Amino acid sequence: MTPPTHTIENLTEDQAKAELERLASQIAHHDRLYYLEDQPEISDEDYDTLRIRNAEIEKSFPHLVRTDSPSLRVGAPLIGPFKKVQHRKPMLSLDNGFNDQDVYDFFDRVRRFLGLSPETPIEIVAEPKIDGLSATLEYNHRHFILGATRGDGEEGEDITANLKTLQDIPQHIAHKDFPSITEIRGEVYMRHSDFMAMNEARATKGDAVFANPRNAAAGSVRQLDPAITASRPLKFFAYACDDYGPFAVNSHWEYLEKLKEWGFVVNPLARLCQTVEDVLAYYRELEEQRAALPYDIDGIVYKVNRIDWQTRMGYSTRAPRWALAHKFPAQQTQTQVDEILIQVGRTGALTPVAVLHPVTVGGVVVSRASLHNEDEIARKDVRVGDTVIIQRAGDVIPQIVDVILEKRPPTSKPFIFPHACPVCGSHAIRLPGEVARKCMGGLVCSAQAALRLRHFVSRDGYDIEGFGAKHVIAFYQEGLIRYPQDIFTLETRDRHSLTPLRNREGWGALSAQNLFKAIEARRKIALHRFIYALGIPQIGQATAKLLARHYLSYTAWKEAMIEAKDQASSAFETLVLIDGIGPSVSEDLIAFFDEPHNLEVLEGLVKEVAVLDEIPPVVGSSPLSGKTIVFTGALTHMSRPEAKVKAESLGAKVASSVSAKTDYVVIGEDAGSKARKAQELGVTLLTEDEWMGMSETE
Ligand code: IVH
Repeated sequence: MTPPTHTIENLTEDQAKAELERLASQIAHHDRLYYLEDQPEISDEDYDTLRIRNAEIEKSFPHLVRTDSPSLRVGAPLIGPFKKVQHRKPMLSLDNGFNDQDVYDFFDRVRRFLGLSPETPIEIVAEPKIDGLSATLEYNHRHFILGATRGDGEEGEDITANLKTLQDIPQHIAHKDFPSITEIRGEVYMRHSDFMAMNEARATKGDAVFANPRNAAAGSVRQLDPAITASRPLKFFAYACDDYGPFAVNSHWEYLEKLKEWGFVVNPLARLCQTVEDVLAYYRELEEQRAALPYDIDGIVYKVNRIDWQTRMGYSTRAPRWALAHKFPAQQTQTQVDEILIQVGRTGALTPVAVLHPVTVGGVVVSRASLHNEDEIARKDVRVGDTVIIQRAGDVIPQIVDVILEKRPPTSKPFIFPHACPVCGSHAIRLPGEVARKCMGGLVCSAQAALRLRHFVSRDGYDIEGFGAKHVIAFYQEGLIRYPQDIFTLETRDRHSLTPLRNREGWGALSAQNLFKAIEARRKIALHRFIYALGIPQIGQATAKLLARHYLSYTAWKEAMIEAKDQASSAFETLVLIDGIGPSVSEDLIAFFDEPHNLEVLEGLVKEVAVLDEIPPVVGSSPLSGKTIVFTGALTHMSRPEAKVKAESLGAKVASSVSAKTDYVVIGEDAGSKARKAQELGVTLLTEDEWMGMSETE
């Protein structure tokens, strides 16, 4: 343990920050040893000294309290010990709307998808969007058997023991019509009054306070000791299920009624609306009530009421098509810009960041705001010393909305954007057509390399238990890992090392062993996670999944990406035609595979890990499985989006233009050039009726 070197009054802000970081990681380390491994390395008094120092620094620098601060949890560490659970159906997010037009557009989308005339009424259930954390509750034979967090949407954490302590969650449901297996989904939250009372009690005891009710709820539900969760005033609103299948209901509204009968708490403000005007009136009503409500809400969720319509509309990769979250406007406040920094991102992009005089916006202390890029900072002409209006919307990084020119100091000067990377000194160049100025240092730039590694091990990537951003960056700085594959040779190298991990500060024999075990566990990885982990620009989780589902194996994908460099190749044509990919994403993929260095890294990596083939969707005997299909002309029985979703659910790929690789072209009314091209290429043409026939044979 390093003894504190400064008295708190003499700490500069930077020193305080660095020390809080060090304390957080040391305390987490000792917590793990004590609670999980039962092998403490230090005496209780020394441990208490660390915690007290952490609390004291936090008291003097309240705006520096870290989100992972030890004072935000009692005793046991939050991360790591929870069992992972696969959700039976993914827990999705919601598409957002920010203004009336977005709501009109949503209604239009629903109409277009379902092929409804503009006069057909669409009933909508409008519910407050609770600002808490979502959870799913599995009931088996009427008993609550498993409760989990949302996690990455596919896999969450098992928090059953903690959720059992909530009064709003029934343990057993006796009603006859309660299905034998079902998942109930909803939001865990804390009321304002409970939150404030709890914080007051914590402050009196000298414990750090939570920034807002949502953090408090999240922290409370992820406690190792359910007795701590039980002592926290948590509540639960139920609002969804994983599958309406087993319920005898035709609408979401009826489902909410059932939930109440069974003993769940449903938000009493939910309302059944008949028109877009009703929905907007409800939104405005709640926007006015918002401040007086006993809990935080950050918008209104609209859900198409009819379940048959919900089923037809289904889900996109990230959200249901039948729902919209209409967010409330962001909260704003004024503050001063103390400094403008340039951060270097994973792809080398230089991002200006304003360091602000800390202020509270929407219950959270904000001390930084993104200025996005060179053009944005020039357009807004933000300068050091300026007073600015900042805003925060939900989890989004705070934005600078405006500069208050009347308050500008007369001596201020416009910010000059650097043309060299502030980290490695390489040229920073702005390519034609790009908004970002980028460091050309590639892998020599430590900012990029370390961030790439951090992305590699992130939750949606390799997700190695106990190996978070902090460790990766520390290991990078110490020269232990440079490239992703080095993670997998750590253990072997460690065996021959003169300074093995177990002897390093912050590590012990057991924690080193556990890390190696966690790394071993990830030697096999799903193709989509692998693709995502590579950190190719524009390849987020959804796109990685599209690619994995299309190419199915690592080798097939890699070969296709290399071939696609030749724009005349069929590999190129196939790539750009994958729905959701397009030319710009293709360009980044091709550029990634065109860089020899990247190929070397890939080669090194696949020597160490096994990339599992993606399992193609189960499509039974569908004649459409694996086929590529193009729709052209107007369809009369189904809208175009519905046809596309239907085809995809049967295992077909839907492309937007006809090529020699197309298997079927479905010809609607007034089909034009695509039908002609199909004929020229000898592709099978289908009438709409033939298509309907094929799509029904499930
Ligand atoms: S429905 C498949 N209803 O908002 C649809 N979500 O931004 C599932 N949320 O992850 C969500 N209140 O945690 C729904 N009344 C409500 C909600 C709600 C809050 C949260 C939920 C979800 C997030 C999406």
